[in-house]
Amino acid sequence: MEYTVMLPAAGSGKRMGAGFNKLFLEIGETPILIHTLRVFDSDPDCAGILLAVKPEERGQIQDMLGQFGITKVKALVDGGEERQHSVASCIEAHEGAGVVLVHDAARPFIRRDVIRKLVDMASAKGAAIAGVKAKDTMKMARNGVVEKTVNREALYIIQTPQAFRYEVLHEATKKAEEDGFLGTDESMLVERLGHPVHIVESTYDNVKMTTQEDLVFGEVLLKRKQEEDLDDADRTRL
Ligand code: C5P
Repeated sequence: MEYTVMLPAAGSGKRMGAGFNKLFLEIGETPILIHTLRVFDSDPDCAGILLAVKPEERGQIQDMLGQFGITKVKALVDGGEERQHSVASCIEAHEGAGVVLVHDAARPFIRRDVIRKLVDMASAKGAAIAGVKAKDTMKMARNGVVEKTVNREALYIIQTPQAFRYEVLHEATKKAEEDGFLGTDESMLVERLGHPVHIVESTYDNVKMTTQEDLVFGEVLLKRKQEEDLDDADRTRL
């Protein structure tokens, strides 16, 4: 099923400590941003990519798109102060209805089967987000002292992509803007409408490249992905 993806790429990545947009950092000699774009550029179900960028990085990113042969970017929009503002710019630029995905440009290892499940679920139910079950024991604490142990069975660690029928995301974003509400993800804005949000099981390797350690992990994940791709190609040849 067809979808459009919105990729906020206008952050500064302070926690990475690179001194520039972390999406320009390379994994296996290719920028993180390009790895993420390639996932969607090569997906036949992806109808288009809307990319939010910092105005001062627009030229550099445009050059990168040409250099790496990325063809599905329909618009480069100006990102905002907060991630939510960057996504809002993408929503404004989107023409038409259907299912839209919001995905952090800093998560290059999202798998296509998870994307498919999200799109199908959002089409049927209106809102679906990627998540994994918490593996560790979870506790609530105040000032470093445990208040209680939380039932892990009920806890999910939420990632992107987050998928929505366009009208649901549009309404949620408009309402948040009117109320001056700032959320940490799009799901929060939809939850405020009272609209149910469904969780689609994702994979633990859909990591957001946030700190230097993530890059080490990223190199390993890339090698594994390349091996898997080769296996797939071999299987197709047989
Ligand atoms: O900083 P963090 O990794 O949590 O940001 C998630 C994604 O949102 C990144 O791809 C980043 O470039 C993007 N972002 C944005 N505009 C902002 C802040 C973050 O597009 N103002």
